[in-house]
Amino acid sequence: MFNIAIFASGRGSNAQAILENIDRGKINARVSIVVSNKSDAGIFDIANERKIPHRYLNPSDFTSVEKYCSEVLSVLDEFDIGLIVLAGYLKKIPSAIISRYRNRIMNIHPALLPAFGGVGLYGMHVHNAVIEHGVKVTGVTVHFVDEKYDHGPIILQEPVSVYDDDTSESLSKRVLRVEHELYSRAIALFVDGRLSIDGRRVYLQQ
Ligand code: GRF
Repeated sequence: MFNIAIFASGRGSNAQAILENIDRGKINARVSIVVSNKSDAGIFDIANERKIPHRYLNPSDFTSVEKYCSEVLSVLDEFDIGLIVLAGYLKKIPSAIISRYRNRIMNIHPALLPAFGGVGLYGMHVHNAVIEHGVKVTGVTVHFVDEKYDHGPIILQEPVSVYDDDTSESLSKRVLRVEHELYSRAIALFVDGRLSIDGRRVYLQQ
């Protein structure tokens, strides 16, 4: 069985969608461990309900980045993790973890990268910036994680129209529905070995 780790900091709706798609047989894997840096993250309620092992690991509780990384890596080893899925995870992944899991860490971003990404552009800040800028199309990006925020190779993208009467709230809801579908598609492609990576380019095998 292919083992996935989900890292999340917030309400966990993407994690919930992934778990439901696993239940429906759309992803050939199981979520073996859930990690959060927030003790009250919604993801812990979901994990409790489903009896999924979960760990609270907050980088600020460790005396050094090295100690934090070694704890995270030992948890990932313990559960034989093949893919780390960041689902609204707000801490930067240290480079020691990225290099061990190169092109095996995915993130989802609620805009079409490289637009509206980078430091400070997360959650509603992204949708506010999109509305303020007046773009007509935004969307969803699923990408591999590298050392820079919102920068790694892009796996899938899907556009979402911005309407004249959209607020950041109305837009975020429409974008979120696309996120819930697109993330599972990207994960399923990875688990089925259908992604090949050449530098920044990710190709889908038929
Ligand atoms: C999503 O919009 C995702 O794109 C971003 O953080 C949000 C997490 O939402 N990275 P949820 O916790 O999965 O509901």
